[in-house]
Amino acid sequence: MLLKLSTYLRHLVPPGIRLRKFIKVIFYLVFFTSLLGFMFNLNAVDCRNGENKCSNIGRKIGPEILGSNLESPVTSTEQSFRTAKIHEYFYRHVASNSIPEQLHCLDLTLANEHANNAAARLRLPSADLVPALVDNSYFHFVLASDNVLAASVVAKSLVQNSLQPWKVVLHIITDKKTYNSMQAWFSLHSLSPAIIEVKSLQDFDWFREGKVSLLEAMEKDQHVRSRFRGGSSAIISNTAEKPEDIAAKLKALSPTYSSVMNHIRIYIPELFPSLDKVVFLDNDIVVQTDLSPLWDIDMNGKVNGAVETCKGKDKRVMSKMLKSYLNFSHPLISKNFDPNECAWAYGMNILDLEAWRKTNISYTYHYWVEQNIKSDLSLWHLGTLPPGLIAFHGNVHTIDPFWHMLGLGYQENTNLVDAKNAGVVHFNGWAKPWLDIAFPQLKPLWTKYVDFSDNFIESCHIRA
Ligand SMILES: *[C@@H]1O[C@H](CO)[C@@H](O)[C@H](O)[C@H]1NC(C)=O
Ligand SMILES: *[C@@H]1O[C@H](CO)[C@@H](O)[C@H](O)[C@H]1NC(C)=O
Repeated sequence: MLLKLSTYLRHLVPPGIRLRKFIKVIFYLVFFTSLLGFMFNLNAVDCRNGENKCSNIGRKIGPEILGSNLESPVTSTEQSFRTAKIHEYFYRHVASNSIPEQLHCLDLTLANEHANNAAARLRLPSADLVPALVDNSYFHFVLASDNVLAASVVAKSLVQNSLQPWKVVLHIITDKKTYNSMQAWFSLHSLSPAIIEVKSLQDFDWFREGKVSLLEAMEKDQHVRSRFRGGSSAIISNTAEKPEDIAAKLKALSPTYSSVMNHIRIYIPELFPSLDKVVFLDNDIVVQTDLSPLWDIDMNGKVNGAVETCKGKDKRVMSKMLKSYLNFSHPLISKNFDPNECAWAYGMNILDLEAWRKTNISYTYHYWVEQNIKSDLSLWHLGTLPPGLIAFHGNVHTIDPFWHMLGLGYQENTNLVDAKNAGVVHFNGWAKPWLDIAFPQLKPLWTKYVDFSDNFIESCHIRA
């Protein structure tokens, strides 16, 4: 073969140039072209797999906002001001959902470690601790995340503040593409005596058995969203609408809000069939106290222990009622629900799975997600909370606000003393603590649990 090739090449070599040198030049040409190709491909793959990470939407819409529409014949100061406004509102969304370079670096570095270091491939937990995963005498926590750094902060803050860390079991659910990195991180950063399980969604029996009508619904949802109101260009070209409404509609197109990782919380009873009670944590929270007293709260037979979000000192964060999330101009909503009913929050929820299994909650959730798709997303626009508010209706037990302080990601005026004294703080909103746009006075509550001298953290230039 080689011989054939060199005979063939010999015909191509311009006279006066030695074959060896020619092959060398060709080799470098091929090498650099494929390197370039590889780099571009890597970007593309990253975007496709990235779901909420790559912000496809941002990339698609960005130039549209900046370019074509601005160049329309009616260009005026007013128009560009308007465009700037849309951009500003939408930028917050894109910024808070895109993944900074350093976190991407951390993912890749850990994946590489997983491939090359046996210690990073240790199964979690070790075989002798596996029985604890289904033992109801432990405190079980569930965290669904594809962000390793965020998960590391939740885990470390949870364990460090626990009075009985040997009784803590944290189940981390991640996706296929993050699994190796997540596994490597927790193998190499033991939180013993706490027990950490890292599992990819695809490895749950429930998932493999194919009981995933949710996935179908989500796919449908994503499909509907991509065509929602004629797609991004149609939304942007509607000049009669307020910039913030346009930004809200653009956000509805974002895959973030229909990603399976977000909706997985409604399947917790099926994912953990042996467990009676778990505490569900979002990945943008920090635990600041021992959480075991949550197991002593009498839930009065209710399924979901959550903080209410309609009353409280902070008027901006704590003024949420059903009408803040659901479209009460729609007869399906107004006929069935009370607009002034208090809303509650996800982020730190006590879930009584025994009580849950006796209810119709998952069915109801599904039913309403379908209704929303059928009515062209006019019942609500965004997120997992609106169908959650509907599905858990009558099954929510209000817990003390101490257990879950909200708003650190969208409220610059958060009272720092209150935040320091809360059991759990939640960076819900756009200013996530792992982003540059985080509020500088609040960020230390989160960075406190990042070890900046760690090799992986340092090599990816992640700084406080
Ligand atoms: C669950 O809810 C649906 C619709 O809300 C209803 O049709 C069904 O009968 C309910 N099932 C049970 C077991 O309550
Ligand atoms: C709310 O529902 C009404 C009635 O179906 C509909 O006309 C309107 O567009 C909906 N609002 C939003 C913001 O989707």
